[in-house]
Amino acid sequence: MRTHHCNEIRSEHIGQTVTLIGWVNSTRDHGGVIFIDLRDREGLTQVVFRPDDSIEAAKLSHSLREEDVIQVTGTVTARLKTEEVDATNADLATGQVELIAKELTIVNKAEVLPFQLDKELSNEDLRLKHRYLDLRRPRLTENLKQRHIITKAARDFLSDEGFLEVETPILSKATPEGARDFLVPSRINPGKFYALPQAPQQYKQMLMVAGVEKYFQIARCFRDEDLRADRQPEFSQIDIEASFISQDDIIGMIEGMLSSMFSQARGVEVPTPFERLTWKDAMNRYGSDKPERRIGMEMVDLTEDLKDCEFRVFSGTIANGGVVKAINAKGFADISTGQIDKLTKLAQEAGAKGLAYIQARDTDRTTWRSPFVKRMTDSEVEALRSKLNIEPGDLILFAADNWEPACDVLGRIRLEVASLKELLKGNEELDFLWVTEFPLLAYDEEEGRHVAVHHPFTRPLIEDEEKLRNGELDGLRAQAYDVVLNGYELGGGSIRIHEADLQSSMFTALGISEEEAAEEFEHILDAFKYGAPPHGGIALGLDRVVMLACKENSIREVIAFPKNNKGAELMTSSPGTATPIALRDLRIKSTYVEKPKDE
Ligand code: AMO
Ligand code: AMP
Repeated sequence: MRTHHCNEIRSEHIGQTVTLIGWVNSTRDHGGVIFIDLRDREGLTQVVFRPDDSIEAAKLSHSLREEDVIQVTGTVTARLKTEEVDATNADLATGQVELIAKELTIVNKAEVLPFQLDKELSNEDLRLKHRYLDLRRPRLTENLKQRHIITKAARDFLSDEGFLEVETPILSKATPEGARDFLVPSRINPGKFYALPQAPQQYKQMLMVAGVEKYFQIARCFRDEDLRADRQPEFSQIDIEASFISQDDIIGMIEGMLSSMFSQARGVEVPTPFERLTWKDAMNRYGSDKPERRIGMEMVDLTEDLKDCEFRVFSGTIANGGVVKAINAKGFADISTGQIDKLTKLAQEAGAKGLAYIQARDTDRTTWRSPFVKRMTDSEVEALRSKLNIEPGDLILFAADNWEPACDVLGRIRLEVASLKELLKGNEELDFLWVTEFPLLAYDEEEGRHVAVHHPFTRPLIEDEEKLRNGELDGLRAQAYDVVLNGYELGGGSIRIHEADLQSSMFTALGISEEEAAEEFEHILDAFKYGAPPHGGIALGLDRVVMLACKENSIREVIAFPKNNKGAELMTSSPGTATPIALRDLRIKSTYVEKPKDE
């Protein structure tokens, strides 16, 4: 139906007869001459309808409306460019030429659209309801293209490295990744349910036992959890597993893959190797296991300096084994009371008792505004001044608590300050890094037992292995690693346990009884008895990689048909209701029971 696409014709085509097909992007009437920007997936071409060139086509062109589908045949001509008039458009790839229409066919008329395509629309639900129109916007079309380029780059890279793409079941069994499962009732096995995979974790490990050695999959994953800008209930992973490899092998390979993906998508060189921080270091310095380092404001530990401080919030916390940490929000001393209150509220919501601060208006400490600075000695003030590099105009924010909550709270405050001060506006730097040596286990106060920080198949550090076998569970570190970009966790993985006895010790550590382990994980414990190779892997969140490569703020912008924040896909109105007959066949009672308030 076409000889060229709408982003193809250039000056060298002048004089040729071409046929284009696409959507009317815009129409303008200049005294009886109709100008149209014709759009297809690739771009725009200007088409001119003049009565002198074809009376019929020119007449018909008056009836054209935005988003009509038309087919035009005409002659490629140079746009007018004289000393008085310049009709060329340097912003458009086809901006030197235009098509003088000879024939016009209206292929399909469009009704008035529910929203304009050339304007940003804040009503996201309306966009999602008519996603087929929303996706016509060049920005979203470009995002889909980038997603394709990035996925292909990953596939090519991994294929070249000898990885095999293997599909694993979607209708599967629950696997503990830490979220809630989506369940699918089985009609043939009444009362039984499949779980949609939160990740193909166990299958990929079984593929290692099966001798596949190098596996990957662009895997759909399903997690019934609260949605955020970087979380969807169904998302995609570039899921990878390999045998006979070390943590360093995986890290090196992923660096190569990400570098290839970003150079093909964004045309940028990503320097490798990425820096590595231990989890402990990341928490200590940035208060996060996915540090955004581009905003500066490293956290400073003041525990030693303030242990005798007259301000009890500090010295009391330290006496009880806690720490005092602070950040310097440079040049933010003029923060408003409202903003301080907002930050304090945020700290309290994160579990802190308060948020101590100093507004260092000038050099002299007498000019400092703070609820407690009066109670500090000169040497304490000097310690702060030198460790935090306090200069006139700075704002210092403190957290006093046990180590982990203090780091966590100040880490959140740090990000909020960066957002209030718009520190990242226009920053295009890509800051990749690895976080390593995650804790193996965390203690869940509510449940009164240990839980796996990554998942139960993660291997402890070699030096901590014996402790796990002996049930000494405090402070165990894992051979687990996350790759982080600009404050987002892009991916995470680990070296796995491959011995049945060590895996049993891990289940015991997690409070899983032998019977439960036998019921839930028999296949793993069995498989490990028959010569399981040492193995490990990682999964990258594909949606997040594409979001960051496309400089978007939400993964919804890079998913063709995402769910809204209530988990609904509005175009098809899913989820929907089921008919009584469908429910009967599945042996499900159709009475809906309200969840008790206290659950
Ligand atoms: P993990 O649970 O860390 O590891 O997930 C890996 C990566 O998947 C992405 N991700 C998500 N993206 C969008 N929406 C979500 N709801 C969502 N949840 C996770 C993140 C994350 O870093 N089986 C292990 C991997 C392994 O050990 O090999 C796993 O799934 O980018
Ligand atoms: P108070 O002595 O309770 O009035 O607190 C004085 C200042 O210290 C206030 O700005 C509080 O927000 C702050 N504050 C109280 N507890 C903590 C804490 N654990 N960490 C940091 N700041 C705190």
